[in-house]
Amino acid sequence: MSKEQWNTSNRNYHFFLKIISVNFNGYQDQSLKNCNLQKYASNQSIIIDRISMLLSISLKGQSNTITIQTGDPKVVISKHIYGHFAEHLGRCIYGGFYVGEGNSNIPNVKGVRKDVIEALQKLKVPNLRWPGGCFADTYHWKDGIGPKESRPAIVNTWWGGVTEDNSFGTHDFLDMCELLGAEPYLAGNVGSGTVQDLSDWVQYVNFNGTSPMSKLRAQNGREKSWKVNFWGVGNEAWGCGGNMKPEYYANIYRQYATFMTDWTNTSKMFRIASGANSSDYNWTEVLMRDIPHNMVEGVALHHYSVIDWNNKGSATDFSEELYFKTMKTALRMEELVARHSTIMDKYDPQKKIALVVDEWGGWYNVEAETNPGFLYQQNTMRDAMIAGTTLNIFNNHADRVRVANLAQTINVLQSVILTKDEKMILTPTYHVMEMYNVHQDAKLLPVTIKSNDYVFGSEKLPAVSASASTDNNGVTHISLVNIDATKVQEVSIVFYGSKYQSVTGRILRGSKLQEYNSFETPEKIKPAPFKDAQLKDGSLSVKLPPFSVVVLELK
Ligand code: AHR
Repeated sequence: MSKEQWNTSNRNYHFFLKIISVNFNGYQDQSLKNCNLQKYASNQSIIIDRISMLLSISLKGQSNTITIQTGDPKVVISKHIYGHFAEHLGRCIYGGFYVGEGNSNIPNVKGVRKDVIEALQKLKVPNLRWPGGCFADTYHWKDGIGPKESRPAIVNTWWGGVTEDNSFGTHDFLDMCELLGAEPYLAGNVGSGTVQDLSDWVQYVNFNGTSPMSKLRAQNGREKSWKVNFWGVGNEAWGCGGNMKPEYYANIYRQYATFMTDWTNTSKMFRIASGANSSDYNWTEVLMRDIPHNMVEGVALHHYSVIDWNNKGSATDFSEELYFKTMKTALRMEELVARHSTIMDKYDPQKKIALVVDEWGGWYNVEAETNPGFLYQQNTMRDAMIAGTTLNIFNNHADRVRVANLAQTINVLQSVILTKDEKMILTPTYHVMEMYNVHQDAKLLPVTIKSNDYVFGSEKLPAVSASASTDNNGVTHISLVNIDATKVQEVSIVFYGSKYQSVTGRILRGSKLQEYNSFETPEKIKPAPFKDAQLKDGSLSVKLPPFSVVVLELK
């Protein structure tokens, strides 16, 4: 037996002993309480069943094992983990969401594409972040209200140096959110704006009494306020938002937040401090230490799955080596969320302040012959792997991660939708988000995963990722991802607390990792019914094809 084989079987053995003792102690307690011989005997036979099942798993050594605690779930997976992000960047807003009221070629509602509205309604977008990104800290919201013909044109300095005519502004965005059934998340300008501007914006969109701003809103056609809950206080203050140091930003944050609402935040505003870049743990530490906790409801975190910022590689033409590297940076999200959460726990043990991952996703080189400042990229099964594993990480950390936003919704980075004139397609990432929306506002079921390795060269990653929840109707959903590029993964799932009678499922897979939906073949990748899940004696065995995402429903 090689050293590695010995380690694996030793690990399996200890895992097996641990499970048996958890089982046995649980049943022992119960038996003592009940003092019921019949029940005791039946418990013993359950224990023996579990032992033999676990023994067979352990001896096989090839199977992945997942245990799911179904009894008394406490944490709710906030639907806002499934949020999106729309920046004035490339063709996200113009051509993506908005094609103009006068457009007779592309069906629209007040200038917003009908096909996009339908697709996003189906996705159940819970919140939408706007207008940036880096753009947010250059954006002066008053430029985007009032008659469109008199709005000033500005230069979008961050993204391609193009002219921004401000034809899509506050009313357009907030009315669109109403159409989508999504809560708006407005990112305020701290980098180049003023405290007065941001406090005026809050009043303009949220205040129903008489004030200069509510009067102006009514003059512009909206009598009743929209009631915006989510507010970002700047974006990437450490970079494009002003190149600030955390101590300086914490002070600025306090100043801005003071004029957004009152001391007790009676308006129940959810204010989000511009957060760390990936592993800048000091940023989170300083913010948690220096911002009074009654002034902040969320602290942000941005992390992109990038191989190398100097050469991000093609979105569609990549080797398995590059795929492995992408997944390595994507799976780093687990460590980032855990470590930022640990810092937050130190200052906020009751977890009142949320970790808001308001930018995440894959980032590659732009497609050939497109404006480099527009960040337009295709979306393959690799992106489906990023989406599935990242959402599992967020679900499993739902006690702290309560808002997140995929970057970005349409035509930019890891989009869920791509458009080309009157055509629109849904990406593999769209399908993952749609399959996973069953977790929105469901109760998290804690999972323990023992995964085989996905080995590439001398490196390895866990092949299987999972999360589970129970919805209000008592239906359980399990989302599973096998990131292994070549191997099927067999998974044995054991439940503690429930016995299920039936299982159904859907799968998203492709014939190769590089596969994508194009405007010519828009339905190459789409979810299909999944048949490789079997319930036997209350346990589940699942066969996951290479690079696939599966969502199961158990009753
Ligand atoms: O999503 C693209 C850009 O990435 C955002 O504008 C910025 O916040 C981040 O650096």
